[in-house]
Amino acid sequence: MEIVPLGTPEEVARLAADVVEAAVRARADAVLGLATGSTPLPTYRELIRRHESGAGPSYARVRCFTLDEYVGLPPGHPESYRATIARELTDSLGIDPDHVQGPDPAPEDLPTAGSRYEEALTAAGGVDVQVLGIGSDGHLAFNEPGSSLSSLTRIKTLTEETRHDNARFFGSIDEVPRHVLTQGLGTILRARHLLLLATGAGKADALATAVEGPLTASCPASVLQLHPHVTVLADAEAAAGLARRDHYREVYDGKPGWQGL
Ligand code: PGA
Repeated sequence: MEIVPLGTPEEVARLAADVVEAAVRARADAVLGLATGSTPLPTYRELIRRHESGAGPSYARVRCFTLDEYVGLPPGHPESYRATIARELTDSLGIDPDHVQGPDPAPEDLPTAGSRYEEALTAAGGVDVQVLGIGSDGHLAFNEPGSSLSSLTRIKTLTEETRHDNARFFGSIDEVPRHVLTQGLGTILRARHLLLLATGAGKADALATAVEGPLTASCPASVLQLHPHVTVLADAEAAAGLARRDHYREVYDGKPGWQGL
């Protein structure tokens, strides 16, 4: 894993935007894996800013897959991840809505939603860069503690902690759905490059447990330790709990320019 301790969330956003843009420049029809939540929003705003200024690459042929989706919201609900990712990123980058896919939460199709999403990901050739956040309980996508480290896309039940964390997007915790469809940890591991973003003091414990603790289903994000190409971008607050923080920074500062992220 490459862990890059940075200063501010804006620094995280700039470097994360560099990684996403590099993937699209390398392949015009790149497949991007997109996370929702608060953490990636500065990165998405930076990508949009660059795109609108003419400095960014063309996204005309890019395809996108979201990590997860709530089950039980009416179609088109503003907090559905389908609507959120269009509003926060893909519409502004000019990405055709047909090029953006998420797990299908239609109630009658739930039994096959997971396998259909796996097939869609495979048919697209897999994800080139997967943007990830981390839950305060160590979840990755909506793989809550106890998730199989080789799980595939399926329905999951949110923990109280996650529903509490996400209540800010809804009127109250009672409105936060209890169930979700989420890419599994095994699904996420198939992406070619994992880009985990962590900002704020609320993520410090989860990040330290994920990258410096043991590999365990009790901290689903620890599965990152199994992947050959992981980049963790953390601001100062999120990196505060890392025992080897100074070493990670020394490694990053000493990297030859040709290596990239
Ligand atoms: P957040 O969520 O970015 O809104 O903190 C991260 C997550 O739940 O994975």
